[in-house]
Amino acid sequence: PRILFVTSEAHPLVKTGGLGDVAGSLPVALQSRGADVRLLLPAYRDAVTRANKLKNVASLTIAGLEAPVKILEGRLPGTSLIIWLADFPPAYDRPGNPYLDSRGQPWPDNAMRFALLAHVATALALGRSRIKWRPDVVHGHDWQTGLVPVLLAREKTRPATIFTIHNLAYQGLFPHRTFTALALPPGLWSPEALEFHDQLSFMKGGLVFADQLTTVSPTYAREIQTPEFGDGLDGLLRRRAARLSGILNGIDDAEWDPARDRYLVNHYSAGRLQGKAANKLALQREFGLPLEPDAPLIGMVGRLVAQKGIDLVLDTLPGLMHRPLQLVLLGSGEAAYETALVRQAARYKDRLSVRIGYDEGLAHRIEAGADMFLMPSRFEPCGLNQLYSLRYGTVPIVRRAGGLADTVVDATPENIGAGKATGIVFQEANGGALLAAMDRALALWRDAGCWQKIMRTGMRQDFSWRHRATKYMQMYERLRRPASDGAP
Ligand code: ADP
Ligand code: GLC
Repeated sequence: PRILFVTSEAHPLVKTGGLGDVAGSLPVALQSRGADVRLLLPAYRDAVTRANKLKNVASLTIAGLEAPVKILEGRLPGTSLIIWLADFPPAYDRPGNPYLDSRGQPWPDNAMRFALLAHVATALALGRSRIKWRPDVVHGHDWQTGLVPVLLAREKTRPATIFTIHNLAYQGLFPHRTFTALALPPGLWSPEALEFHDQLSFMKGGLVFADQLTTVSPTYAREIQTPEFGDGLDGLLRRRAARLSGILNGIDDAEWDPARDRYLVNHYSAGRLQGKAANKLALQREFGLPLEPDAPLIGMVGRLVAQKGIDLVLDTLPGLMHRPLQLVLLGSGEAAYETALVRQAARYKDRLSVRIGYDEGLAHRIEAGADMFLMPSRFEPCGLNQLYSLRYGTVPIVRRAGGLADTVVDATPENIGAGKATGIVFQEANGGALLAAMDRALALWRDAGCWQKIMRTGMRQDFSWRHRATKYMQMYERLRRPASDGAP
Protein backbone atom coordinates (compact mmCIF):
# COMPACT_ATOMS: atom_id res chain seq x y z
CA PRO A 1 0.00 0.00 0.00
CA ARG A 2 0.97 3.65 -0.47
CA ILE A 3 0.96 5.52 2.84
CA LEU A 4 1.16 9.25 3.47
CA PHE A 5 2.42 9.47 7.05
CA VAL A 6 1.71 12.92 8.53
CA THR A 7 3.38 14.03 11.75
CA SER A 8 4.55 17.10 13.64
CA GLU A 9 7.88 15.50 14.65
CA ALA A 10 10.19 12.70 13.55
CA HIS A 11 13.62 11.75 14.86
CA PRO A 12 16.32 12.71 13.87
CA LEU A 13 14.83 15.83 12.24
CA VAL A 14 12.82 17.08 15.20
CA LYS A 15 11.86 15.39 18.46
CA THR A 16 10.28 16.45 21.74
CA GLY A 17 9.18 13.02 22.97
CA GLY A 18 8.09 9.54 22.01
CA LEU A 19 6.08 10.64 18.97
CA GLY A 20 9.36 11.70 17.39
CA ASP A 21 10.86 8.27 18.00
CA VAL A 22 7.80 6.49 16.59
CA ALA A 23 7.42 8.69 13.50
CA GLY A 24 11.13 8.34 12.81
CA SER A 25 11.16 4.54 13.00
CA LEU A 26 7.72 3.07 12.17
CA PRO A 27 7.68 4.37 8.56
CA VAL A 28 11.11 2.84 7.99
CA ALA A 29 9.84 -0.50 9.32
CA LEU A 30 6.75 -0.23 7.10
CA GLN A 31 8.93 0.46 4.10
CA SER A 32 11.04 -2.61 4.77
CA ARG A 33 7.80 -4.62 4.78
CA GLY A 34 6.97 -3.40 1.29
CA ALA A 35 4.87 -0.29 1.98
CA ASP A 36 5.48 2.77 -0.20
CA VAL A 37 5.67 5.53 2.42
CA ARG A 38 6.07 9.31 2.29
CA LEU A 39 6.71 11.09 5.57
CA LEU A 40 5.23 14.61 5.64
CA LEU A 41 6.13 17.18 8.28
CA PRO A 42 6.56 20.95 8.57
CA ALA A 43 9.81 22.47 7.32
CA TYR A 44 10.88 23.75 10.75
CA ARG A 45 14.19 25.58 10.62
CA ASP A 46 16.15 22.85 12.45
CA ALA A 47 14.54 20.07 10.39
CA VAL A 48 15.62 21.78 7.17
CA THR A 49 19.18 22.09 8.49
CA ARG A 50 19.34 18.43 9.52
CA ALA A 51 17.83 17.06 6.30
CA ASN A 52 20.49 17.74 3.73
CA LYS A 53 20.06 17.62 -0.05
CA LEU A 54 16.48 18.81 -0.16
CA LYS A 55 14.97 19.63 -3.50
CA ASN A 56 11.85 21.56 -4.30
CA VAL A 57 9.43 19.14 -5.96
CA ALA A 58 6.11 21.00 -5.90
CA SER A 59 4.29 24.22 -5.04
CA LEU A 60 0.81 24.01 -3.57
CA THR A 61 -1.75 26.77 -3.66
CA ILE A 62 -3.70 26.80 -0.42
CA ALA A 63 -6.82 28.97 -0.16
CA GLY A 64 -6.25 32.07 1.95
CA LEU A 65 -2.45 32.06 1.68
CA GLU A 66 -0.67 34.86 -0.12
CA ALA A 67 2.16 32.57 -1.27
CA PRO A 68 2.39 28.93 -2.29
CA VAL A 69 3.60 26.18 0.05
CA LYS A 70 6.68 24.46 -1.32
CA ILE A 71 7.30 20.75 -0.88
CA LEU A 72 10.95 19.99 -0.18
CA GLU A 73 11.85 16.38 -0.83
CA GLY A 74 14.73 14.49 0.76
CA ARG A 75 15.52 11.35 2.70
CA LEU A 76 15.22 10.77 6.42
CA PRO A 77 18.89 10.89 7.50
CA GLY A 78 20.42 7.43 7.70
CA THR A 79 17.57 5.82 5.74
CA SER A 80 16.17 5.66 2.22
CA LEU A 81 12.75 6.87 3.36
CA ILE A 82 11.37 9.79 1.34
CA ILE A 83 10.46 12.82 3.42
CA TRP A 84 8.41 15.80 2.34
CA LEU A 85 8.84 19.03 4.27
CA ALA A 86 6.01 21.54 3.93
CA ASP A 87 7.85 24.81 3.47
CA PHE A 88 5.99 27.97 4.39
CA PRO A 89 8.46 30.23 6.23
CA PRO A 90 5.94 32.48 8.02
CA ALA A 91 4.59 29.37 9.79
CA TYR A 92 7.59 27.10 10.26
CA ASP A 93 10.89 28.93 9.83
CA ARG A 94 11.55 29.49 13.54
CA PRO A 95 14.24 28.30 15.90
CA GLY A 96 13.76 25.77 18.67
CA ASN A 97 10.79 23.76 19.81
CA PRO A 98 8.10 22.93 17.23
CA TYR A 99 5.25 23.80 19.60
CA LEU A 100 6.64 26.34 22.09
CA ASP A 101 8.40 29.68 21.95
CA SER A 102 11.59 30.40 23.87
CA ARG A 103 9.62 31.17 27.05
CA GLY A 104 7.89 27.80 26.90
CA GLN A 105 4.53 29.22 25.77
CA PRO A 106 2.67 27.67 22.82
CA TRP A 107 3.36 29.62 19.60
CA PRO A 108 0.33 31.95 19.33
CA ASP A 109 -0.42 30.78 15.79
CA ASN A 110 -0.28 27.02 16.41
CA ALA A 111 -3.83 26.48 15.16
CA MET A 112 -2.94 28.11 11.86
CA ARG A 113 0.38 26.25 11.62
CA PHE A 114 -1.15 22.80 12.05
CA ALA A 115 -4.29 23.56 10.06
CA LEU A 116 -1.88 24.41 7.26
CA LEU A 117 -0.17 21.04 7.67
CA ALA A 118 -3.58 19.40 7.24
CA HIS A 119 -4.32 21.42 4.10
CA VAL A 120 -0.97 20.41 2.64
CA ALA A 121 -1.57 16.72 3.48
CA THR A 122 -5.02 16.93 1.90
CA ALA A 123 -3.74 18.54 -1.30
CA LEU A 124 -1.02 15.91 -1.62
CA ALA A 125 -3.46 13.08 -0.81
CA LEU A 126 -5.79 14.25 -3.56
CA GLY A 127 -3.05 14.76 -6.14
CA ARG A 128 -3.51 18.53 -6.35
CA SER A 129 0.11 19.23 -7.28
CA ARG A 130 2.82 18.28 -9.71
CA ILE A 131 3.45 15.14 -7.66
CA LYS A 132 1.61 12.28 -9.25
CA TRP A 133 2.03 9.85 -6.34
CA ARG A 134 -1.29 9.28 -4.53
CA PRO A 135 -1.67 7.43 -1.22
CA ASP A 136 -4.13 4.62 -0.43
CA VAL A 137 -4.08 5.64 3.21
CA VAL A 138 -3.29 8.87 5.03
CA HIS A 139 -2.04 8.17 8.55
CA GLY A 140 -1.96 11.11 10.98
CA HIS A 141 -0.70 11.37 14.55
CA ASP A 142 -2.00 13.36 17.52
CA TRP A 143 -3.93 16.63 17.55
CA GLN A 144 -1.52 18.43 15.24
CA THR A 145 -2.90 16.30 12.39
CA GLY A 146 -6.50 16.17 13.64
CA LEU A 147 -7.86 18.23 10.76
CA VAL A 148 -6.54 15.84 8.11
CA PRO A 149 -9.46 13.36 8.38
CA VAL A 150 -11.86 16.33 8.63
CA LEU A 151 -10.76 17.86 5.34
CA LEU A 152 -10.56 14.52 3.55
CA ALA A 153 -13.97 13.37 4.78
CA ARG A 154 -15.51 16.13 2.63
CA GLU A 155 -14.15 14.59 -0.58
CA LYS A 156 -16.01 12.03 -2.67
CA THR A 157 -12.96 10.21 -3.93
CA ARG A 158 -10.30 10.04 -1.31
CA PRO A 159 -7.82 7.76 0.40
CA ALA A 160 -8.73 6.09 3.69
CA THR A 161 -7.68 7.83 6.91
CA ILE A 162 -6.12 6.52 10.12
CA PHE A 163 -5.63 8.66 13.19
CA THR A 164 -3.30 7.50 15.96
CA ILE A 165 -3.65 8.84 19.49
CA HIS A 166 -0.26 9.12 21.17
CA ASN A 167 -1.53 11.25 24.00
CA LEU A 168 -5.19 12.16 24.56
CA ALA A 169 -4.28 14.80 27.13
CA TYR A 170 -3.01 17.21 24.47
CA GLN A 171 -6.07 18.09 22.44
CA GLY A 172 -5.33 21.23 20.49
CA LEU A 173 -8.12 23.38 21.98
CA PHE A 174 -8.72 26.91 20.67
CA PRO A 175 -11.39 29.59 21.05
CA HIS A 176 -14.32 29.96 18.67
CA ARG A 177 -12.68 32.91 16.95
CA THR A 178 -9.88 30.58 15.82
CA PHE A 179 -12.50 28.33 14.25
CA THR A 180 -13.75 31.34 12.33
CA ALA A 181 -10.27 32.49 11.41
CA LEU A 182 -9.43 29.08 9.97
CA ALA A 183 -12.45 29.40 7.65
CA LEU A 184 -13.61 25.90 8.48
CA PRO A 185 -17.12 25.01 7.18
CA PRO A 186 -19.58 26.46 9.74
CA GLY A 187 -21.42 23.12 9.98
CA LEU A 188 -18.40 21.68 11.76
CA TRP A 189 -19.12 23.87 14.79
CA SER A 190 -21.17 21.25 16.59
CA PRO A 191 -20.59 18.79 19.44
CA GLU A 192 -20.96 16.06 16.81
CA ALA A 193 -17.94 17.48 15.00
CA LEU A 194 -15.18 19.85 16.16
CA GLU A 195 -16.80 21.67 19.08
CA PHE A 196 -15.70 20.64 22.56
CA HIS A 197 -17.33 22.65 25.36
CA ASP A 198 -17.36 25.88 23.34
CA GLN A 199 -13.86 25.34 22.04
CA LEU A 200 -12.42 24.12 18.77
CA SER A 201 -10.83 20.69 19.28
CA PHE A 202 -8.31 19.46 16.71
CA MET A 203 -8.23 16.12 18.51
CA LYS A 204 -11.96 15.63 17.95
CA GLY A 205 -11.41 16.10 14.25
CA GLY A 206 -9.30 12.96 14.22
CA LEU A 207 -11.53 11.01 16.59
CA VAL A 208 -14.81 11.81 14.81
CA PHE A 209 -13.75 11.76 11.16
CA ALA A 210 -10.96 9.19 10.72
CA ASP A 211 -11.96 5.85 9.20
CA GLN A 212 -9.87 4.03 11.76
CA LEU A 213 -8.47 5.00 15.17
CA THR A 214 -5.50 3.49 16.89
CA THR A 215 -3.57 4.19 20.02
CA VAL A 216 -0.19 3.00 21.22
CA SER A 217 -1.02 0.19 23.67
CA PRO A 218 -3.98 -2.14 24.25
CA THR A 219 -4.39 -1.02 27.87
CA TYR A 220 -4.48 2.69 26.95
CA ALA A 221 -7.07 1.85 24.26
CA ARG A 222 -9.31 0.56 27.05
CA GLU A 223 -8.40 3.26 29.58
CA ILE A 224 -9.35 6.16 27.32
CA GLN A 225 -12.86 4.77 27.09
CA THR A 226 -13.31 5.49 30.82
CA PRO A 227 -13.97 8.87 32.45
CA GLU A 228 -10.75 8.61 34.47
CA PHE A 229 -8.48 8.64 31.42
CA GLY A 230 -10.84 9.90 28.71
CA ASP A 231 -10.27 13.64 29.21
CA GLY A 232 -13.92 14.26 28.40
CA LEU A 233 -13.71 12.27 25.18
CA ASP A 234 -14.44 8.81 26.60
CA GLY A 235 -18.07 8.86 25.44
CA LEU A 236 -17.03 9.58 21.86
CA LEU A 237 -14.36 6.89 22.06
CA ARG A 238 -16.85 4.35 23.40
CA ARG A 239 -19.13 5.12 20.47
CA ARG A 240 -16.22 4.51 18.10
CA ALA A 241 -14.90 1.48 19.99
CA ALA A 242 -15.38 -0.87 17.03
CA ARG A 243 -13.00 1.34 15.08
CA LEU A 244 -10.41 1.76 17.85
CA SER A 245 -7.53 -0.57 18.57
CA GLY A 246 -4.28 -0.47 20.54
CA ILE A 247 -1.02 -1.42 18.86
CA LEU A 248 2.10 -1.33 21.04
CA ASN A 249 4.94 0.87 19.88
CA GLY A 250 8.18 -0.72 18.81
CA ILE A 251 11.66 0.70 19.18
CA ASP A 252 14.46 1.36 16.76
CA ASP A 253 16.69 -1.45 17.97
CA ALA A 254 19.68 -0.31 15.96
CA GLU A 255 19.62 3.17 17.50
CA TRP A 256 18.91 1.77 20.99
CA ASP A 257 21.31 -1.15 21.32
CA PRO A 258 23.82 -1.38 24.19
CA ALA A 259 26.09 -3.49 21.97
CA ARG A 260 26.69 -0.64 19.49
CA ASP A 261 25.22 2.59 20.93
CA ARG A 262 27.46 5.42 19.70
CA TYR A 263 26.85 7.49 22.83
CA LEU A 264 28.35 4.93 25.28
CA VAL A 265 31.87 4.64 26.64
CA ASN A 266 31.61 0.85 26.71
CA HIS A 267 29.40 -1.64 24.90
CA TYR A 268 27.72 -4.65 26.46
CA SER A 269 24.99 -7.20 25.89
CA ALA A 270 23.04 -9.88 27.78
CA GLY A 271 25.99 -12.22 27.26
CA ARG A 272 28.57 -9.64 28.40
CA LEU A 273 26.84 -7.90 31.28
CA GLN A 274 30.11 -6.89 33.01
CA GLY A 275 30.47 -4.17 30.36
CA LYS A 276 27.64 -2.22 31.97
CA ALA A 277 29.73 -1.29 35.02
CA ALA A 278 31.98 1.10 33.11
CA ASN A 279 28.90 2.98 31.91
CA LYS A 280 27.71 3.31 35.49
CA LEU A 281 30.99 4.81 36.66
CA ALA A 282 31.06 7.16 33.68
CA LEU A 283 27.51 8.26 34.48
CA GLN A 284 28.29 8.88 38.15
CA ARG A 285 31.24 10.96 36.99
CA GLU A 286 29.17 12.86 34.40
CA PHE A 287 26.60 13.71 37.09
CA GLY A 288 29.25 14.56 39.69
CA LEU A 289 28.19 11.83 42.11
CA PRO A 290 30.55 9.75 44.27
CA LEU A 291 31.91 6.81 42.25
CA GLU A 292 30.23 4.02 44.17
CA PRO A 293 29.96 0.82 42.15
CA ASP A 294 27.80 -0.85 44.79
CA ALA A 295 25.21 1.86 45.36
CA PRO A 296 22.15 1.18 43.21
CA LEU A 297 21.87 4.03 40.68
CA ILE A 298 18.35 5.01 39.66
CA GLY A 299 17.78 6.90 36.39
CA MET A 300 14.93 9.06 35.16
CA VAL A 301 14.53 10.78 31.76
CA GLY A 302 11.48 12.61 30.57
CA ARG A 303 9.26 15.59 30.10
CA LEU A 304 8.74 17.23 33.50
CA VAL A 305 4.94 17.29 33.49
CA ALA A 306 2.25 15.91 35.79
CA GLN A 307 1.71 12.91 33.48
CA LYS A 308 5.11 11.53 34.42
CA GLY A 309 4.47 11.51 38.19
CA ILE A 310 7.27 13.97 38.97
CA ASP A 311 5.26 15.21 41.94
CA LEU A 312 5.32 11.69 43.40
CA VAL A 313 9.10 11.68 43.18
CA LEU A 314 9.35 15.12 44.78
CA ASP A 315 6.95 14.13 47.56
CA THR A 316 8.87 10.97 48.39
CA LEU A 317 12.33 12.47 48.02
CA PRO A 318 13.08 12.57 51.77
CA GLY A 319 12.17 8.88 51.97
CA LEU A 320 14.09 8.00 48.83
CA MET A 321 17.18 9.84 49.99
CA HIS A 322 16.99 7.92 53.24
CA ARG A 323 17.70 4.73 51.34
CA PRO A 324 21.09 3.52 50.10
CA LEU A 325 20.78 4.72 46.50
CA GLN A 326 21.73 7.45 44.04
CA LEU A 327 19.28 9.14 41.68
CA VAL A 328 20.05 10.93 38.40
CA LEU A 329 17.43 12.80 36.42
CA LEU A 330 17.39 14.42 32.98
CA GLY A 331 14.38 16.39 31.87
CA SER A 332 12.76 19.65 31.00
CA GLY A 333 9.24 20.95 31.23
CA GLU A 334 7.17 22.86 33.76
CA ALA A 335 9.20 25.54 35.50
CA ALA A 336 7.88 24.64 38.96
CA TYR A 337 9.16 21.08 38.65
CA GLU A 338 12.49 22.23 37.24
CA THR A 339 13.06 24.65 40.11
CA ALA A 340 12.00 22.17 42.79
CA LEU A 341 14.28 19.45 41.42
CA VAL A 342 17.28 21.75 41.18
CA ARG A 343 16.70 22.93 44.72
CA GLN A 344 16.48 19.37 46.05
CA ALA A 345 19.63 18.37 44.16
CA ALA A 346 21.53 21.10 46.01
CA ARG A 347 20.22 19.71 49.27
CA TYR A 348 21.07 16.03 48.64
CA LYS A 349 24.32 16.78 46.89
CA ASP A 350 25.97 13.38 46.68
CA ARG A 351 22.78 11.35 46.27
CA LEU A 352 20.70 13.26 43.75
CA SER A 353 21.91 14.96 40.58
CA VAL A 354 19.66 16.74 38.12
CA ARG A 355 20.25 17.95 34.58
CA ILE A 356 17.62 20.32 33.21
CA GLY A 357 17.51 20.37 29.43
CA TYR A 358 17.23 18.11 26.44
CA ASP A 359 20.19 15.88 25.61
CA GLU A 360 19.80 12.84 23.37
CA GLY A 361 23.23 11.39 24.16
CA LEU A 362 22.80 11.75 27.91
CA ALA A 363 19.43 9.96 27.67
CA HIS A 364 21.26 6.98 26.15
CA ARG A 365 23.99 7.10 28.78
CA ILE A 366 21.42 7.10 31.60
CA GLU A 367 19.69 4.07 30.08
CA ALA A 368 23.05 2.29 29.96
CA GLY A 369 24.62 3.47 33.21
CA ALA A 370 21.72 3.24 35.64
CA ASP A 371 20.80 0.02 37.45
CA MET A 372 17.10 0.86 37.63
CA PHE A 373 14.85 3.23 35.70
CA LEU A 374 11.96 4.99 37.43
CA MET A 375 8.67 5.77 35.60
CA PRO A 376 5.90 6.48 38.11
CA SER A 377 3.59 7.86 35.40
CA ARG A 378 0.01 8.75 36.29
CA PHE A 379 -0.91 7.67 32.80
CA GLU A 380 1.28 6.45 29.95
CA PRO A 381 -0.14 5.76 26.48
CA CYS A 382 2.82 3.53 25.65
CA GLY A 383 6.10 4.84 27.00
CA LEU A 384 9.36 4.17 25.23
CA ASN A 385 11.85 4.71 28.03
CA GLN A 386 10.84 1.53 29.84
CA LEU A 387 11.40 -0.35 26.57
CA TYR A 388 14.86 1.18 26.19
CA SER A 389 15.52 0.30 29.85
CA LEU A 390 14.57 -3.34 29.30
CA ARG A 391 16.88 -3.52 26.32
CA TYR A 392 19.73 -1.98 28.34
CA GLY A 393 19.35 -4.29 31.35
CA THR A 394 18.21 -1.34 33.46
CA VAL A 395 15.34 -2.73 35.50
CA PRO A 396 12.25 -0.50 35.16
CA ILE A 397 10.18 0.48 38.19
CA VAL A 398 6.82 1.54 36.77
CA ARG A 399 3.27 2.29 37.69
CA ARG A 400 0.66 -0.09 36.30
CA ALA A 401 -0.83 2.18 33.63
CA GLY A 402 -1.22 2.09 29.85
CA GLY A 403 1.74 0.75 27.95
CA LEU A 404 3.75 0.33 31.15
CA ALA A 405 1.27 -2.33 32.26
CA ASP A 406 1.53 -4.02 28.86
CA THR A 407 5.33 -4.17 28.66
CA VAL A 408 6.76 -4.73 32.16
CA VAL A 409 6.21 -8.02 34.03
CA ASP A 410 6.24 -7.55 37.80
CA ALA A 411 8.91 -9.37 39.79
CA THR A 412 6.56 -11.38 41.99
CA PRO A 413 8.04 -14.61 43.37
CA GLU A 414 5.94 -16.59 40.86
CA ASN A 415 7.06 -14.52 37.87
CA ILE A 416 10.68 -14.68 38.96
CA GLY A 417 10.40 -18.44 39.38
CA ALA A 418 8.84 -18.79 35.94
CA GLY A 419 11.62 -16.71 34.40
CA LYS A 420 9.16 -14.04 33.26
CA ALA A 421 9.84 -11.07 35.58
CA THR A 422 11.33 -7.98 33.94
CA GLY A 423 10.69 -5.12 36.39
CA ILE A 424 8.84 -3.77 39.40
CA VAL A 425 5.22 -2.73 38.88
CA PHE A 426 3.17 -0.80 41.44
CA GLN A 427 -0.47 0.12 41.45
CA GLU A 428 -1.40 3.24 43.39
CA ALA A 429 -0.30 6.73 42.31
CA ASN A 430 1.00 7.76 45.72
CA GLY A 431 4.28 8.14 47.54
CA GLY A 432 3.73 5.14 49.81
CA ALA A 433 3.28 2.81 46.86
CA LEU A 434 6.33 4.27 45.14
CA LEU A 435 8.50 3.77 48.22
CA ALA A 436 7.21 0.23 48.69
CA ALA A 437 8.11 -0.55 45.07
CA MET A 438 11.56 0.92 45.62
CA ASP A 439 12.05 -1.25 48.69
CA ARG A 440 11.06 -4.33 46.71
CA ALA A 441 13.58 -3.36 44.06
CA LEU A 442 16.34 -2.81 46.63
CA ALA A 443 15.66 -6.19 48.24
CA LEU A 444 15.90 -7.94 44.88
CA TRP A 445 19.06 -5.99 44.05
CA ARG A 446 20.79 -7.47 47.09
CA ASP A 447 20.32 -10.93 45.56
CA ALA A 448 22.75 -10.58 42.67
CA GLY A 449 21.80 -13.85 41.00
CA CYS A 450 18.12 -13.03 41.00
CA TRP A 451 18.77 -9.46 39.83
CA GLN A 452 20.83 -10.61 36.84
CA LYS A 453 18.10 -13.05 35.89
CA ILE A 454 15.60 -10.17 35.81
CA MET A 455 18.02 -8.05 33.79
CA ARG A 456 18.62 -10.79 31.25
CA THR A 457 14.92 -11.62 30.89
CA GLY A 458 14.25 -7.98 30.01
CA MET A 459 17.14 -7.82 27.57
CA ARG A 460 15.85 -10.87 25.71
CA GLN A 461 12.41 -9.36 24.97
CA ASP A 462 11.72 -8.35 21.39
CA PHE A 463 10.39 -4.78 21.31
CA SER A 464 11.42 -4.11 17.74
CA TRP A 465 8.88 -3.06 15.11
CA ARG A 466 9.07 -6.51 13.50
CA HIS A 467 5.69 -7.76 14.78
CA ARG A 468 4.02 -4.45 15.44
CA ALA A 469 4.60 -3.01 11.98
CA THR A 470 2.81 -6.04 10.58
CA LYS A 471 -0.30 -5.02 12.49
CA TYR A 472 -0.28 -1.63 10.81
CA MET A 473 0.30 -3.30 7.44
CA GLN A 474 -2.77 -5.48 7.95
CA MET A 475 -4.81 -2.44 8.86
CA TYR A 476 -3.67 -0.56 5.76
CA GLU A 477 -4.57 -3.52 3.55
CA ARG A 478 -8.00 -3.71 5.13
CA LEU A 479 -8.66 -0.02 4.62
CA ARG A 480 -7.22 0.29 1.17
CA ARG A 481 -9.83 1.40 -1.28
CA PRO A 482 -9.91 0.59 -4.96
CA ALA A 483 -8.58 3.67 -6.73
CA SER A 484 -11.75 4.47 -8.64
CA ASP A 485 -10.21 7.43 -10.40
CA GLY A 486 -7.24 5.65 -11.93
CA ALA A 487 -4.59 6.93 -9.56
CA PRO A 488 -1.16 5.57 -10.45
P1 ADP B 1 6.62 10.90 25.99
O1 ADP B 1 6.41 10.70 24.53
O2 ADP B 1 5.36 10.97 26.76
O3 ADP B 1 7.50 12.06 26.28
P2 ADP B 1 8.08 8.36 25.86
O4 ADP B 1 8.63 7.50 26.94
O5 ADP B 1 7.21 7.71 24.87
O6 ADP B 1 7.36 9.59 26.57
O7 ADP B 1 9.26 8.98 24.99
C1 ADP B 1 10.12 9.94 25.44
C2 ADP B 1 11.29 10.06 24.48
O8 ADP B 1 11.84 11.36 24.58
C3 ADP B 1 12.41 9.09 24.76
O9 ADP B 1 13.12 8.81 23.59
C4 ADP B 1 13.26 9.91 25.74
O10 ADP B 1 14.58 9.47 25.81
C5 ADP B 1 13.16 11.27 25.13
N1 ADP B 1 13.35 12.36 26.08
C6 ADP B 1 12.43 12.91 26.91
N2 ADP B 1 12.97 13.92 27.61
C7 ADP B 1 14.26 14.01 27.22
C8 ADP B 1 15.36 14.87 27.57
N3 ADP B 1 15.21 15.83 28.49
N4 ADP B 1 16.54 14.69 26.95
C9 ADP B 1 16.68 13.71 26.03
N5 ADP B 1 15.71 12.87 25.66
C10 ADP B 1 14.50 13.02 26.24
C1 GLC C 1 3.14 10.07 23.78
C2 GLC C 1 2.95 9.30 25.06
C3 GLC C 1 3.92 8.16 25.25
C4 GLC C 1 4.12 7.39 23.96
C5 GLC C 1 4.52 8.33 22.84
C6 GLC C 1 4.73 7.63 21.51
O1 GLC C 1 3.97 11.16 23.88
O2 GLC C 1 2.98 10.16 26.18
O3 GLC C 1 3.45 7.28 26.25
O4 GLC C 1 5.12 6.40 24.13
O5 GLC C 1 3.51 9.28 22.65
O6 GLC C 1 3.59 6.93 21.08
